[in-house]
Amino acid sequence: MNDLHGLATRALHVLDPEDAHTAALAALKLGLGPAAPADAPILATEMADLKLPNPVGLAPGFDKNAEVFGPMLRAGFGFVECGTVTPLPQAGNPRPRLFRLTEDRAVINRMGFNNEGVEAFARRLARRGSGVVGANIGANKDSADRVGDYVVALTRVWGLCDYYTVNISSPNTPGLRALQTRAALEELLGRIVEAGQALPDAGGRPIFLKVAPDLEDAEIEAIAEVVDRSGFNGIIVSNTTIGRPGLRSRHRGETGGLSGAPLMSLSTQVLRRFREVAAKDLQLIGAGGIASGADAYAKIRAGACAVQLYSALAFEGPGLVVRIKRELAGLLQADGFRSVREAVGAR
Ligand SMILES: Cc1cc2nc3c(=O)[nH]c(=O)nc-3n(C[C@H](O)[C@H](O)[C@H](O)COP(=O)(O)O)c2cc1C
Repeated sequence: MNDLHGLATRALHVLDPEDAHTAALAALKLGLGPAAPADAPILATEMADLKLPNPVGLAPGFDKNAEVFGPMLRAGFGFVECGTVTPLPQAGNPRPRLFRLTEDRAVINRMGFNNEGVEAFARRLARRGSGVVGANIGANKDSADRVGDYVVALTRVWGLCDYYTVNISSPNTPGLRALQTRAALEELLGRIVEAGQALPDAGGRPIFLKVAPDLEDAEIEAIAEVVDRSGFNGIIVSNTTIGRPGLRSRHRGETGGLSGAPLMSLSTQVLRRFREVAAKDLQLIGAGGIASGADAYAKIRAGACAVQLYSALAFEGPGLVVRIKRELAGLLQADGFRSVREAVGAR
């Protein structure tokens, strides 16, 4: 069966990357995805009080419309984050907008929040089964009130997910990253927390902020401080980078966010810096360039309670998560840790 999935992944490589993604989603919806064995007990952990069977999550962007979170949980991810979803459906940028940089084990995307809108997203989530699922929310490109968009989307999915992520770090919606500056962030988080308090079960589900890796030290300190005071539960570090560190592939000049192997070191450095400056109880989730158990372990030791990945799937297919978990369990044991939690921030 694994050979079959390897073969299918290689076959998908001859397709345009976006067509390959659409084909993969169709196969998953037909129930053709792999089923992972149960997780080793050493991998069981927590993320802001949510119990996870393992700390390896699927990053948003793969399941933008909340269609395949069930099959991806079955493939062995410890949690799945759907989205980014915006209040209204939107087409995103013109194609081609997704590029595979094979020699660099990287991806560049400028999708631009293509999604079916929060109504369709919420209807699918309302029918979900067990397993930890998060919703990543964003603003429509042409919205006159971007902050209001986050409130609208959050209100619609409230109670349907285990956690919520406020995404202000996509480089593909012009001006969105400006929400990371202190004054804008204070207003945004203030309005979201206020709206959340008016909803039933207020404070019952964690809310995270997802940031870019392209941040100066002073910006990291300001974000950590504002998030801590806001009542948000944590920060996801990070989204894609607008940097182009040492790439060889022919698509390296494409506009958009870079992810995959070349993002590993930068996003882990920024994560470590957040751990140094943030309050102790602020949860950090690490994303960016994870393709092995050693990568996941490095993020955990830098301070992440859980991790997420996406780009490596484009090269290896969903069987990848089983390998990463096996390697991670081995590394924890070799260093004498009895749980993931013991290794968080162990440097
Ligand atoms: C094609 C593609 C689409 C993405 N779409 C989103 C998105 O809608 N929302 C979001 O927060 N992150 C999105 N991301 C970023 C990923 O969630 C992740 O933060 C980033 O790719 C780094 O992890 P990776 O190197 O494992 O891919 C996207 C990434 C890719 C490659």
